[in-house]
Amino acid sequence: MISRRLPGSFESNPLTREIASFRREGRPFLDLTTSNPTRCGIPYPETEILAALASPAVLSYDPDPRGPARAREAVAAWHGIDPGDLVLTASTSEAYSWLFKLLCDPGDDVLVPSPSYPLFHWLAALEGVEARQVPALRSDRWDLDFQALAWAVTPRTRAVVVVNPNNPTGQFLSRGEWRELLAFCAARGLALLVDEVFADYALEPAPDHLPTALAETGPPCPLFVLSGLSKIAALPQVKLGWIAARGGPARACLEALAFIADQYLSVSAPALAAAGDLLGLAKGIQAGIRSRLASNLAALDAERARRPSLGRARVEGGWSAILRVPALEPGDDLVLRILREAGVLIHPGHFFDLPGDGHLVCSLLPADFPAGIARVGEIIEGGRPE
Ligand SMILES: Cc1ncc(COP(=O)(O)O)c(C=O)c1O
Repeated sequence: MISRRLPGSFESNPLTREIASFRREGRPFLDLTTSNPTRCGIPYPETEILAALASPAVLSYDPDPRGPARAREAVAAWHGIDPGDLVLTASTSEAYSWLFKLLCDPGDDVLVPSPSYPLFHWLAALEGVEARQVPALRSDRWDLDFQALAWAVTPRTRAVVVVNPNNPTGQFLSRGEWRELLAFCAARGLALLVDEVFADYALEPAPDHLPTALAETGPPCPLFVLSGLSKIAALPQVKLGWIAARGGPARACLEALAFIADQYLSVSAPALAAAGDLLGLAKGIQAGIRSRLASNLAALDAERARRPSLGRARVEGGWSAILRVPALEPGDDLVLRILREAGVLIHPGHFFDLPGDGHLVCSLLPADFPAGIARVGEIIEGGRPE
């Protein structure tokens, strides 16, 4: 009955089943996987947020496929770009689906340097498109592997998708990688999609990092930059994202993008009316998030100082950290053991296509991160179970 774009089975994995049983039995656990900022005790200017969402503008319906001028002007002012280069969406995820519709026919593919954000697989598959992973080279960072990318291109490849800074590695593109990526896409007639939802959260950036692709005004290939309120203002529930076209080739697609948007008109009036005021609050909200990220990273480093078996990758940016641990048992077994024995939920690296069993991925947002990481450290230091 259902199309082949969907998964063959909706069976949950052993970790999800274990979490469900904890919840059923009312057993508490510390969740070091949550990246939902509204659940982490981050201070929000609540009165101002509610006031922004209560504008009289929500009482009328005045649809514009690209998003009304006032909302686009607010987003454009935030980024320092032209409002005419923007199309507003209900989320960054929706922005992906519109770009895949724009660029790809069913059966086409896009290349995704991995490790990366796991949702791409299904966002692409639901458009009849294959997101093909191209593993990065691991040195002391995850370097884009341009040789592997070149080998992966087929006549059906339409785009490369990168996240800057990446999720979960936190790594920004280097300026050298950026120049090579633009030339790579231009030489092969590919579009370049850059997801910059975490761009405002640089923690330990490398000196030659690319802070944003938006500064690129005349790229040699169609360049689309994606972002939204979900991370910029830590308000995922408001549901406002956007696509910024950079340069002539991407701008030439704006009318077609507006045609796609016109079929959905999906952004709600409250989100559109509030965009300017919410962006006005974003710097203050970001300060609260940044302070949480920094204090949790310090708690992680304090735990590492006590536990030689616990390592971490440099967190250039974003909301997650990658832990390095001895690969003494399969990653799935280790995270189940940490949940059962320590009451802490953490993700195995393979959920994010990190190779091997020596990585765990945690969010740096939770208020109870210090307690949780101390329990994880104890289990890791205890070594392999009997
Ligand atoms: C890299 C990345 N892109 C996009 C999204 C989704 O953002 P939105 O809530 O705007 O759909 C996320 C959510 O975590 C993300 O990590």
